[in-house]
Amino acid sequence: MASARKFLYQRLSPALVRLYNVLRRLKPVEMAMDFLLTKLSPNIGTPFLESTHSTGSMEKDWDNRARLSGLMAATGAASEEGADASALKSLQTRILKGTDLKETWVVLEIGCGIGNLLKPISALVREAHGVDISGEMLRQAAERTKGCANVVLHKTEGRLDMFPDSFFDFVYCSGVFIHFPEKTLVYEYFKESARVLKPGGVFRLNVDGRSYLTWRSNKGGTLRGVVFKPEEIKQNLGKYGFQVRDITGAESLDMWTTAVVIKG
Ligand SMILES: C[S@@+](CC[C@H](N)C(=O)[O-])C[C@H]1O[C@@H](n2cnc3c(N)ncnc32)[C@H](O)[C@@H]1O
Repeated sequence: MASARKFLYQRLSPALVRLYNVLRRLKPVEMAMDFLLTKLSPNIGTPFLESTHSTGSMEKDWDNRARLSGLMAATGAASEEGADASALKSLQTRILKGTDLKETWVVLEIGCGIGNLLKPISALVREAHGVDISGEMLRQAAERTKGCANVVLHKTEGRLDMFPDSFFDFVYCSGVFIHFPEKTLVYEYFKESARVLKPGGVFRLNVDGRSYLTWRSNKGGTLRGVVFKPEEIKQNLGKYGFQVRDITGAESLDMWTTAVVIKG
């Protein structure tokens, strides 16, 4: 049963995700599908898209997804080549957009998954740290980055207390906060990122900005997480000393923010 599920997840998920992305171009269809999946999947699971019944624990759910296919769960790609290509595209067009990365920098990825982004970024900086809530994702990340001497991986429970204050030049988080069931958990990372960044350090992150999915305004699952309005992001980053430089992609699944931390 477990191996049948693994087979289906690896083989069918990419096609189903593509179909889902085509269908969701029509807003009413997107809203109907999202409502049904959000309301049904925590209890019955949707074998392909959700991959597992949600246990309600972020750690357990991501461990389970990683065991089925870390590649698919972390990157959405069906092959190693697809994952490599999507990492490069993501770095160029999203994560490093507007940031002039320096080779002396120490950087952090929150929710590094199997290390698909950490690996190429590590070639451009002095040290590349990754934290993740899933031990299984980190095991696969260690394998993937074993030739990269400057990659350091850490297990987290949702905080950054393994790092001292003002340690990083750049913190980024891609495709992670979109899966958070509660806003306070996202804001905890805002607070922690402000603490671990050097003065003037840059935080680049994305959230699900489809605030019209109102049933996910305050509570989500560990796959379809909470949705945000740009003002909420701006206000909460501001609370911890960030100055928001730009927010793009409002009302989309991929709402990106760049913020700079101002300290003493
Ligand atoms: C869709 S994957 C994205 C992985 C990676 N950022 C990438 O783009 O290749 C989401 C990752 O976030 C991690 N994650 C989920 N909740 C987390 C939390 N509270 N703290 C840290 N990592 C978390 C998951 O374990 C998973 O590896």
